[in-house]
Formats: sequence, C-alpha cells, structure tokens
Amino acid sequence: MPNSTDWRPPRSSAVVSLDADTLAGAWETDGVITRDEALALDAADPLTGFRDRFHIPDQSVIYLDGNSLGMPPKRTLERLTEVYLQEWGRDLIRSWEHWVDLPQRVGDTLAPLIGAGRGEVVLHDNTTLNVYQAVHAAIGLRPDRTVIAISADDFPTDRYVVDGIAAALPGYRVRHGFDDLDDVAVIVRSVIDYRTAELVDVAAETARAHAAGAMVVWDLSHAAGAIEIDLRACGVQLAIGCSYKFLNGGPGAPAWTYVARELHSTIQQPIWGWFATENQFAMGPTFQPREDIARMLLGTPSILALTAAQVGIELSAEAGMKAIHAKGQALTGLAIDLCDQHGLPTPTPRDQLRRGNHVAVQHPRAKALVQELAARNVIFDFREPNIIRAGCSPLTTRFVDVFDGLAAVAAAG
Ligand SMILES: Cc1ncc(COP(=O)(O)O)c(C=O)c1O
Repeated sequence: MPNSTDWRPPRSSAVVSLDADTLAGAWETDGVITRDEALALDAADPLTGFRDRFHIPDQSVIYLDGNSLGMPPKRTLERLTEVYLQEWGRDLIRSWEHWVDLPQRVGDTLAPLIGAGRGEVVLHDNTTLNVYQAVHAAIGLRPDRTVIAISADDFPTDRYVVDGIAAALPGYRVRHGFDDLDDVAVIVRSVIDYRTAELVDVAAETARAHAAGAMVVWDLSHAAGAIEIDLRACGVQLAIGCSYKFLNGGPGAPAWTYVARELHSTIQQPIWGWFATENQFAMGPTFQPREDIARMLLGTPSILALTAAQVGIELSAEAGMKAIHAKGQALTGLAIDLCDQHGLPTPTPRDQLRRGNHVAVQHPRAKALVQELAARNVIFDFREPNIIRAGCSPLTTRFVDVFDGLAAVAAAG
C-alpha cells in the first residue's frame, strides 16, 4: 500500500475507473490538486451510491464530523417506524419474544466488521459503562496485580473510568504509559488516537502485553466501521467501542463489548443485572452468570436505539470493510496532501497504514474557526488545544467535501 506521499489524485477530467483496491492510490498528478480532481475522484468512487442511502436534507452542507456523529441512514426511519407501529404499537409486549436477544443479534451483525466471531459481541448502554465493566472483568482475571495502565492522552472518559476504579479498589493505582508493564493487571488503550488519528499496531501491542502477563481492553470507538481490523487474528480478548460514529447508529446509540469466546465462562463483570443471569425469567434468588456473551448485559435494553444501530451496522456490512477502509485512506490521503498544499500543519501520520479516518489540522484559532465555519455549514470539530478534526466517513463524505472544507479553513486564515 502506498503512503500519502505516494498518493496522487487523478489528473483533472481524466476520470479513472477505480475499484476499492486502487482507490487508495494508483494515479498521477503533476502538481497542484484542483477541485475538478476531487470531483473526478467522487465520480470514480465505488462507494458513491451509499451517500444516497442517507437522509441529507441539504447537499450543500460540508460535513466532516462523521467521526463524532455519523449521518442518519434513510432506512433507520423506516425501521424505527415499523418497530413503533407494528412491534411496539400492534404487538405490544409480545414483541419481547424476539426483542429479548436483540443485543446479541446486533452484536452478530457487527462481529464480522471487527474480526470477531458469532456470539462474541453484545451491544448495550454507552461506551463509558462498557469500559467500566471490561476493566473490572480484566482485573478479576489478574487478581495478583494492582496497576491499571493508560495513556495520559487517551480519551477522557476512559481515563476517568480507570481513575475511578483505582480509587474505589484498595491498593490499586494508575500508571500512565505502556513501557513499564510490571504488575500491570490491565491496559486500557484506544486503537486510534482521538486527536491525531494515529493507529496502534494492535497485534504487536496485544502480544507484548500478554507476554508481560497483562490483559488489554482496546477502545475501538474510532476504528469500528472505519478500518479493517481482525480482533481474533490480533489475539485481542477484550474490546469495546461506540456505534454512533462511523457505524452511523444514531446519537447515543448503544456501545458494544467484545469478549473472546475462551473467556466467556470465567469472566466476571461488576454489575449483576437480570439480563445477564441464567434462566432470567425464573426470577431466582441469586445471580448465576450466563455462559455466553450475554453475561455482559445489565437490564432492559433500548430496543429503539438497538434498531437504529442495527441499520447503521448493516450498511457498513453491505459496503464491506475493505472498501470502506480503502476509501478512508484515500480521503485522508487527499486531506493530508491538501494540508500540505495550503501550508496547514497536521500531526496525523502520513503512512496510511498508521492512521484512522480523520485528519487533525493544527491551527492557532482552531476553536473560533470551527464555530465560524459551522455557521457557514462547513462542519468540523474542535479538540483541545488547537486541533480541527476533519472526519472522513467513507459512506457519506465526498472527496469534494474534503477539498472544499480544507479550502475554507485555509481561506479563513
Ligand atoms: C475513544 C472514545 N472512547 C469513548 C468515547 C465516548 O464514550 P460514551 O459513548 O460513553 O460517551 C468516545 C467519544 O467520542 C471516544 O472517542
């Protein structure tokens, strides 16, 4: 795979016929990237039809924030209406017969997108709660160790949850960084950095942690639905992530937890709810954790939220992670080359094998600029201290959005 220095947009008007394999970079140019070249990439994009599957009331909006909140699939409204009118409205409580295992069924839809097996993924509640459960579960598997390791730069909710767990458990402490794994029970780590988009070598880092006797909880919030990843092949045993970013599951869509099958009978999670117990409707006197992934569940799941998540995940499954990742690499490659063209500094890795699907632009007026541009329907997001994030969501972002969005940043000065 070429890196972004190899990445070249096609010459203007020379529309190249691109499939997913070649989209990530097999064309030549002789200098400045033009808007026509971006349009030519859109014309050649094998995923271009997917944008029509989303509800986009104003096509002139330049949306580069699908890495925070994906756009709404049209089918979501249809499915929610069906669930509302028929499953809830007409069938009433009888629908629980098939709703009851929806968290696992949506998990099975997501599983192949992240290299998990059937029965290894479940969706419920938010990422924060899923982190809490997974960290506790990992600690329980390493009872002789007392350190939780996390990067001081990782996403705040992961750090806060880890701090809270260490504060609540006598003798536990948090260590920032992953060089020293002595006495580490569990590492909590994002696969893709939420600021720079740097992608960790998951297989190598999982192997290093396991060799040192530590468990790892990987946070795939910025990876699921964005990049091709094979959790099983990487030796990953525990992972969590959200479904409202690249998976287009909707605002507050349920998060997911992956537990490798070999841990299912031993892993213990800290919140003992009735959806996680054997013979749930026996209403027994004590909690008996189920032998499958459902032991990570808590209480009654949100069926409407799971329905929306299912539709978003199905769209990514239909497009295929190979094609999605290839377009993500092409979009971010274009964004980096445009940053260079406009003289905008970016800390995002130039090697497309080492980055996720957003590009960070450093700008002294980042915060104000993001607000100014949003008022003009050019939507990025801001991250402290000086980062404008350009999210490239392969099912909805056009190459011309990347071109126009970065031109707007450059023009704003
Ligand atoms: C890496 C990471 N973890 C967790 C979260 C959010 O957690 P929650 O879904 O509980 O709000 C985000 C949100 O952007 C994130 O980027």
